[in-house]
Amino acid sequence: MTARIIDGKALAASIREEVAQQVATLKTQGVTPGLAVVLVGDDPASHVYVRNKAAACEKAGLHSEIIRLDKDISQAQLLSVVHKLNDDPRIHGILVQLPLPPHLNSHIVIEAISAAKDVDGFHISNAGLLMTGKPLFRPCTPYGVMKMLEAENVSPWGAEAVIVGASNIVGKPMAMLLLAAGATVTLCNSKTRDLAAQTRRADILVVATGKPGMVNGDMIKPGATVIDVGINRLPDGRLVGDVEFESAKEVAGAITPVPGGVGPMTIAMLLVNTLEAAERCVS
Ligand code: GUN
Repeated sequence: MTARIIDGKALAASIREEVAQQVATLKTQGVTPGLAVVLVGDDPASHVYVRNKAAACEKAGLHSEIIRLDKDISQAQLLSVVHKLNDDPRIHGILVQLPLPPHLNSHIVIEAISAAKDVDGFHISNAGLLMTGKPLFRPCTPYGVMKMLEAENVSPWGAEAVIVGASNIVGKPMAMLLLAAGATVTLCNSKTRDLAAQTRRADILVVATGKPGMVNGDMIKPGATVIDVGINRLPDGRLVGDVEFESAKEVAGAITPVPGGVGPMTIAMLLVNTLEAAERCVS
């Protein structure tokens, strides 16, 4: 059996098209949704991500600003930039690209963002709202995964969902969204004793570890839906996920490719969150 390939690029394009239509409607009411992306330092991957986010905004008719700051900026200066954006009525969403240089405290910076503009959903208030089942913003990557499952008619209700990787950005919010959707959730981390025993139980397997080849075909239940959140650049220049695609696709029922799977969905959901933030200003 060869798995169905889940086309995240096509789904993301249709979501972006829907966002563009809703942005056009909002503009007739005098509001242009605005996103500010704060980028500190010169990490090449972050520069690419940020450029892609801004380009997606422009294409969908949103206003976007990239605020590029020197890698040596002080915490106080960065906080002052965030406070200005909190007070800027043209800006509905604020995203501080992570990781930050080591001398900056990302927790303090994220808490400084107004929770109503925290389109990443990383602010502690938004994490709490998500945990208690009343989310304001769902973190973009897990939100995108939920949209993919919905589009593929894969229902989490009553399903065994196993997540590998317990980060604040993906694993933990993913667990909350799947739990809220009725799945029985197992959240694995780097200390999990027998990882394969866990992953083999999964009807829905989400892998987000940042380690290529973390999961292979032997670790997958036949027919499972496999969502690969990883994006890793190999020394030979190839871009691969955390799942060994060739062996996994022979066992899984459906699988996301890398690239062209979860990545484009993250950006699409950032636009959705920014649109929702702007809509709240008119309602
Ligand atoms: N770095 C990697 N992924 C993300 C993300 O989704 N948001 C932010 N702010 N930084 C990231």
